[in-house]
Amino acid sequence: MTSIMKPLNLFEYEAQAKNNLSQMAWDYYVSGAGDEITLRNNRNGFESLQLRPRMLVDVSQRNLSTQILGKPQELPILIAPMAFQCLANPAGEIATAKVAGSMGITMVLSTMATKSMEEVAAVEQAGNQWFQLYVHRDRGLTKALVERAYNSGFQALCLTVDAPLLGRRERDARNQFVLPPGMSLANLATWEDREITQKAGESGLFAYFAEQLDPGLTWADVEWLRELSPLPLVIKGILRGDDAVRAVEHGVNGIIVSNHGGRQLDGAIATIDALGEIVTAVENQAEVLMDGGIRRGTDILKALALGAKAVLVGRPILWGLAVAGSQGVQHVIELLRDELDLAMALTGCATLQDIDSSLIKS
Ligand code: FNR
Ligand code: LAC
Repeated sequence: MTSIMKPLNLFEYEAQAKNNLSQMAWDYYVSGAGDEITLRNNRNGFESLQLRPRMLVDVSQRNLSTQILGKPQELPILIAPMAFQCLANPAGEIATAKVAGSMGITMVLSTMATKSMEEVAAVEQAGNQWFQLYVHRDRGLTKALVERAYNSGFQALCLTVDAPLLGRRERDARNQFVLPPGMSLANLATWEDREITQKAGESGLFAYFAEQLDPGLTWADVEWLRELSPLPLVIKGILRGDDAVRAVEHGVNGIIVSNHGGRQLDGAIATIDALGEIVTAVENQAEVLMDGGIRRGTDILKALALGAKAVLVGRPILWGLAVAGSQGVQHVIELLRDELDLAMALTGCATLQDIDSSLIKS
């Protein structure tokens, strides 16, 4: 990366990443479901919020650190679980994990990773790592994934609940999405036939979900999951207050307000618009995080102002990986950190606790 080419923001990373990715990988990463209404609305939601900065506050020292599930974090930012990171860079999830560890933030590793959880847990300076679980119809397999995550040192389980079937991303159907030779579902290597295979006129990943994942998953299974390991449980994909209350009743430690980056139900509410209702419903009985459309430090400030403890960042991490491997991921996080730091200074917030709802115009 020459300095003249170095992206100035996350949108420039996206533009550069496109040049470094195959059509199939770019389309898979960038797509939303259907007409991509929710994908766009995640951004529109942030853009339409207006800030009410507070003046003449001493912001000469600023502190961006926090705790998530009782563990210190340098920033209120986590790396969202994202499948198939080797499509962006040969080091894939390993590169992402190294950066997360060295920058003191949590990475969530996808069930559908192209590096195994054991390899990812073993990176130098591994920090907090959570394992994102997709519940397969084969409960023996699912149980084994949880046990391996616990045994290899993951510190929380993140159960994704918004994908009983995969959303229909039309570009993936057109491309007949499949993994290139040499890439596979690394966490599932010990089971036969857990592969993404080419399907006529359809995304191979869509077909995998339909065949392998359990669309019969219910709250009763959340109880079952909690018994499988002592790991704290975070539920990802909640969009309504009543579901958040149920999650709390089922003893979850965290809730991620998410619409899967607009990749599941098209027309689903933008996450920044869903956040307030959920924060109110949860009454501080679990930590509330959010993701979807975080591209600027001011987006993070807005999410925190509306009650999120932290945010997860998705696609921009892949853009960083595609542009410059681990250096790119690091720079993406540094950009967000510096933008958040500046936004805090300009709104009169010295610490994350100072970011309150009065900063948002109602
Ligand atoms: C995802 N996401 C996702 N979520 C999950 O629980 N398990 C997964 O394996 C994946 N895989 C995945 C792949 C790709 C390419 C993308 C873009 C997203 C959803 C992800 O965790 C997160 O919810 C969104 O990406 C957040 O939105 P932004 O930041 O991408 O706008
Ligand atoms: C996706 C799945 C793997 O969004 O979560 O592509």
